[in-house]
Amino acid sequence: MSLNEHLQEEIFERKRAEKKLVATKTYVESILANSLDLIITIKKDGNIVYTNRHLDYETGYKREDVQGKYIMELIPEHLKEFMLKKLKDLNEGISGIYETQIIKADGTPMDCLISQAPVEGFDEFIIAIKNITERKKMETELLKAQKLESVGILAGGIAHDFNNLLTAIFGNISLAKMYMMEREVYNHLVEIEKASLRAKNMTQQLLTFSKGGAQVKKITSLDELIRDSANFALRGSKVNCDIFISPELWHAEVDEGQISQVINNLIINAQQAMPDGGTIQVQADNVTLGSDNVLALKAGDYIKISVKDHGIGISEENIQKIFDPYFTTKPDGSGFGLSTAYSIVKGHDGHIKVESKPDIGTTLYIYIAASPKRFQLKQKDPAFIKGRGNILVMDDEEMVRFVTGKMLYQLGYEVEFVKNGDEAIKVYKQSKKTGKSFDAVIMDLTVPGGMGGKETINKLLKFDPGIKAVVASGYSNDPVMADYKKYGFSGVVCKPFTLSELGQILHKLFESKAD
Ligand SMILES: Nc1ncnc2c1ncn2[C@@H]1O[C@H](COP(=O)(O)OP(=O)(O)O)[C@@H](O)[C@H]1O
Ligand SMILES: [Mg+2]
Repeated sequence: MSLNEHLQEEIFERKRAEKKLVATKTYVESILANSLDLIITIKKDGNIVYTNRHLDYETGYKREDVQGKYIMELIPEHLKEFMLKKLKDLNEGISGIYETQIIKADGTPMDCLISQAPVEGFDEFIIAIKNITERKKMETELLKAQKLESVGILAGGIAHDFNNLLTAIFGNISLAKMYMMEREVYNHLVEIEKASLRAKNMTQQLLTFSKGGAQVKKITSLDELIRDSANFALRGSKVNCDIFISPELWHAEVDEGQISQVINNLIINAQQAMPDGGTIQVQADNVTLGSDNVLALKAGDYIKISVKDHGIGISEENIQKIFDPYFTTKPDGSGFGLSTAYSIVKGHDGHIKVESKPDIGTTLYIYIAASPKRFQLKQKDPAFIKGRGNILVMDDEEMVRFVTGKMLYQLGYEVEFVKNGDEAIKVYKQSKKTGKSFDAVIMDLTVPGGMGGKETINKLLKFDPGIKAVVASGYSNDPVMADYKKYGFSGVVCKPFTLSELGQILHKLFESKAD
């Protein structure tokens, strides 16, 4: 081979190698470019050499902006020390996988999982970054949900105990009122009763919070409900409330506890939006919607309630998120108020919407289907309806048994007590044999560590299909309470109950004997 030929061969060989190198480079680059991870290479001093195309998508930076930059500039202050240690590791040839954050072009942090390693044969390191912001968010939401769940369980338990205590309080108040002839003392008792009623409402809220639960709907005058809930929410606050309620406001079939919670949540938000005080306007009107209404509600009669504030308002960006669970702009907010309101209103075949302008104020509107049925006005302190008969009371709480017994006695009934389902069945069966049978039983729904009302009624019904049983519970959200007939009960009473309520329930029970 001549020298010339040799040279030519060598040139040819080199060109081929170069071509191959270019091909390999393109090959590697196209892999990097299409990676869904963010890939950066840095020099020993931490300066960025290369970034793949995915960078702008994930972080909003342009490649030119970051190339040559010191990588530490992308790390939030509180993680700098940690990252410096990781860089030191790299310089010592130590690879690793860890979680950290980088700051995006818009200044917000991005949670990321990083895999770092030296690039073989180069004085450079590769840093592969996976955006795990969503996963982190989900983790914290899960944690929040778990926390809420345990708070819910706790709230449910507290509410149950409270309702037992309140039964004793209410019962004793109504008994004391009966014996009390002195006007002055009587007035104090009335005040105590009012305060206890508030305690009862709060317990109800706790229960609603602890479980969506079954709704207990009844015909309600929203007028009173709105006034009470609004005033209750603003107790002790420097924010005022003007309430305009149309005089002939229709009635609606609602779960009182839930609707009062909705009003409460809206009022609290309005109040929080006006940190310097001000006035909230609450309004309620009758409206009739046609079939083509923009709210996508069924045609019909509705009650439209609005809660208007003159507070900070809501930005356009946030306005679509306010009904999302956990969405909050408050440092210690739960983001639960409006999402709960939303689900409650939907559960009442209604609609909730918002109008807001930053720095001007916010109005929340609620529509609730009106009911053609009329609400029976509660008589003020109605006369107690007395009766006659032999009643068996089952409750595990001594004080509840005691006060219920006293109340029944006052109403004219004879009473016997048992602590749980087993005892109830035994005593009920025995009484049938002796001929002195019970005209009705009042049973607690849940008995810790024993047979509660739900199971007991099944067994009693088998023995005596004609039994008249009333279920009593502090868990007014329990499905049994909403649907007591399906479970075999003839009546229901929510703890705490007053003397007149107890009288009415028994009266109704015996009245229906005929049918
Ligand atoms: N009346 C209002 N004025 C201004 N912003 C409001 C108002 N009501 C709700 N928001 C916004 O909606 C978010 C969600 O409200 P909410 O679900 O009640 O949760 P939270 O009150 O715990 O933040 C609030 O953090 C706030 O940003
Ligand atoms: Mg709120």
